[in-house]
Amino acid sequence: MSFSAAWLSLREPFDRRARNPAVLQAVAAAFAGLPSVNIADLACGTGSTLRALGPRIAARQHWRLYDNDLSLLARAADVPNATAVPVDLARDLEVALDGPVDLVTTSALLDLVSAEWLERLAIETAARRIPVYAALTYDGRAEFTPSDPLDDKIVAAVNAHQRSDKGFGPALGPTAAQAAVEQFERVGYTVLQGAADWSFETADREIQTEILSGWAAAAREMGTVPLPDVLAWLTRHNVFVAAGLSSIRVGHVDVFARPAAAR
Ligand SMILES: C[S@@+](CC[C@H](N)C(=O)[O-])C[C@H]1O[C@@H](n2cnc3c(N)ncnc32)[C@H](O)[C@@H]1O
Repeated sequence: MSFSAAWLSLREPFDRRARNPAVLQAVAAAFAGLPSVNIADLACGTGSTLRALGPRIAARQHWRLYDNDLSLLARAADVPNATAVPVDLARDLEVALDGPVDLVTTSALLDLVSAEWLERLAIETAARRIPVYAALTYDGRAEFTPSDPLDDKIVAAVNAHQRSDKGFGPALGPTAAQAAVEQFERVGYTVLQGAADWSFETADREIQTEILSGWAAAAREMGTVPLPDVLAWLTRHNVFVAAGLSSIRVGHVDVFARPAAAR
């Protein structure tokens, strides 16, 4: 599955605003007083986690940025303390975890992966006693203001679509946030979680338009809502967006999972 740099750039300010401050603070505090930190960022895209977390960690940092999209990686590695590493994480996750790694980070990835891959991530990080900061995992909630009678059916179709294979096997989609907490607790980690919801206000027209059309396309692919209904739903919401009357909230969860009594 591919993601455009334009889409990642559009969402980054909303992601940054959504990231849970208590979880971010806990990550930063875990490395306070250390002279240097080696961070492996999985599925880095253009490097949004480096930009969001980097300034909060006082220690000298070296980031290894992993992704399978070369054009995103080229943008991400355009900073002095980062090395870009092309890798298919579905196949070669362990490559990213070997070597000196003090912290694994990722954002907007866990809803794309399968239960098996998530379990592998938890087991492999636990074997190396590496803490994990996983931000912006979609949790299946979407609230529209004004609401529409078809919202629930469209969101149900979107959530079903989210569970299709994104390259890692059948995706966890809206169940990923809860599954991540459970998997890391199962390997003995202490997990801090916090809401990291996207909040699109009435002026945020461009991202609302993108989200609505993406969800209409997903609902169309699922075929559970008749196409004329999907189109009518999209049109009604777009009218509200254009009039500056629409706001949308999308549920996400951030987690910081760390080995008990470590770092
Ligand atoms: C939703 S984007 C998130 C990007 C970035 N973490 C962010 O928050 O902006 C998902 C990322 O996963 C990467 N990705 C998807 N499948 C992958 C795979 N099999 N191996 C490595 N990266 C993958 C995509 O290229 C994309 O950069």
